[in-house]
Amino acid sequence: MRHLAQQTVGADPQTVRDARDFAMRAFDSWGGCRRGDDIRLCVSELAGNAVQHGSPDGRTYLVRLIRPPYCLHVEVHDTTHHSRVHIPPASPSAETGRGMRIIQELCDDWGMQTLTGGKAVRTCFRRPEAPTSRRSCTP
Ligand SMILES: Nc1ncnc2c1ncn2[C@@H]1O[C@H](COP(=O)(O)OP(=O)(O)OP(=O)(O)O)[C@@H](O)[C@H]1O
Ligand SMILES: [Mg+2]
Repeated sequence: MRHLAQQTVGADPQTVRDARDFAMRAFDSWGGCRRGDDIRLCVSELAGNAVQHGSPDGRTYLVRLIRPPYCLHVEVHDTTHHSRVHIPPASPSAETGRGMRIIQELCDDWGMQTLTGGKAVRTCFRRPEAPTSRRSCTP
């Protein structure tokens, strides 16, 4: 069975907490799994990026979770599509530029898709019980 949960969130820094709480409620209601802490951190970084880089003028962003049979997709949709979501070169002295690196380390796959009126940054978390033959996971 495929599940979907989504919520539109106002784009100011306080809403990162709302985005995280919403995502974890949906995740828990679907039975959770041992990757909950990783998922929580990725939602925080994705939502923080939507607020900081992806939603000018305080436009809202959307948090969406989809659960196909063997994985969980966590997506954040925002309203800019010109900017490039990337992993900056590692620099020990830089004060920022670590969020996407954390996401890359914690999820199994991530990607960005341009949409009408904005973009989606997607992550995929494979479920531990996924059979080896179903390991492919395109977010
Ligand atoms: N949703 C987004 N919209 C537009 N640009 C983005 C978005 N997410 C990330 N980026 C771009 O990718 C870069 C890297 O993102 P990353 O989260 O790693 O760093 P940061 O947000 O600048 O700093 P930190 O997350 O450490 O506070 C950002 O500086 C920004 O240029
Ligand atoms: Mg960031």
